[in-house]
Amino acid sequence: MTRIPEGDKYSAIIVAAGSGSRFGGYKQLLKIGGRNIVEIVLDRFSKCGASELVLVTKKELFPHFEYLRDLFDIPIKIVEGGQRRGDSVFNGVKAAAYDNVLIHDAARPFLSCTLIQRVLGALKKYNAVIPVVPVRDTVVKVKDEMAVSRVDREDLRSVQTPQGFKRNVLLYAFELAREKKLYFTDESTMLIDTLGLFSRIVDGEHSNLKITYREDLEMFRYSMTAMGYDIHRLKEGGLLKVGGVVVKEGISPVAYSDGDVVLHALIDALLAIKGKDDIGTLFPDTDDQWKDADSGELLLKVMEYVGEINILKVDITCILEKIKLSPFKDKIKKSIATYLGIPEENVSFKARTKEGIGEVGKGKAIEAFCLVTYSI
Ligand code: CTP
Ligand code: MG
Repeated sequence: MTRIPEGDKYSAIIVAAGSGSRFGGYKQLLKIGGRNIVEIVLDRFSKCGASELVLVTKKELFPHFEYLRDLFDIPIKIVEGGQRRGDSVFNGVKAAAYDNVLIHDAARPFLSCTLIQRVLGALKKYNAVIPVVPVRDTVVKVKDEMAVSRVDREDLRSVQTPQGFKRNVLLYAFELAREKKLYFTDESTMLIDTLGLFSRIVDGEHSNLKITYREDLEMFRYSMTAMGYDIHRLKEGGLLKVGGVVVKEGISPVAYSDGDVVLHALIDALLAIKGKDDIGTLFPDTDDQWKDADSGELLLKVMEYVGEINILKVDITCILEKIKLSPFKDKIKKSIATYLGIPEENVSFKARTKEGIGEVGKGKAIEAFCLVTYSI
């Protein structure tokens, strides 16, 4: 690890002590892509040069975040927040160990290292730095439910976090504000009113959105992929099932269950989405109850086990020599779509041969790959 010069060290203070009244619940407990948003933010700072992490949250939420203590290479402090955002920031700043502090909303999980560096860069020269973005929409003044005048947006900016401050300057402003019983929604305005100090602006990022309302989550939806694979040797006798459809009699996979490689690959992909074990761990061949099990039933059990997944697309490739699968293609797609409860057009099924290569190529084994795309 490269050593950070003492003067460049900073404390990352993550405020997550709000009540999410506009969101309708604790948004600091939200997960994106299976990871909690506070964890995502702390991870980002730990990888972007922070020397310590200070998480400010509600006392009753401490148990939810205890696991974070073991996750990062740098020290983490978890401190209690206050009634207003300013109180929470104050508590975080008091607990911070370094002269430079970066204060960031837990509700903004998509900040980049570039933005952090930009704020830190300006903090070398200025006592207070805030990232801002131009106001995109036309802004109007309203009165009695009517738009009465236009506000020139050229002079306006939306303020984001992380905001960088010299710790002692900020603490001094907090003391003055508390003496005068003044409260501010944002520290940069507090610095103006208490010390007459202007904050330096740097470019923010439009992608650094804050989750405020539940509908904001729509903007964060994105897709991810998971993959599964399976292979089975083939033997004479029995039934060959592919995607829950019998495609041939007189030949069957050497397997503990019915050996449907396509459904097994699909099951492993679904388990991967939730970071769960693979099919072998879930249905071990040492357990008699899975002997000759119908893979379709195993799939339904797995779907119950992993819970709700918003599947966008299932893409399967099955590799089998000598037996033509194309006549069964539509049936297989329909079968998989029915199991998953998704439209047939969201399932694609391709059959391939292996050009005579290896065991699969000699027709002694069947193989399948499955890619599942899902949204979070
Ligand atoms: N915050 C905090 N302490 C408070 C209030 C807010 O640490 N007393 C934090 C929130 O957890 C959030 C950030 O400040 O990460 C920005 O605040 P906001 O988006 O307003 O979140 P909430 O205050 O939770 O939401 P609301 O205002 O809708 O209740
Ligand atoms: Mg708030």
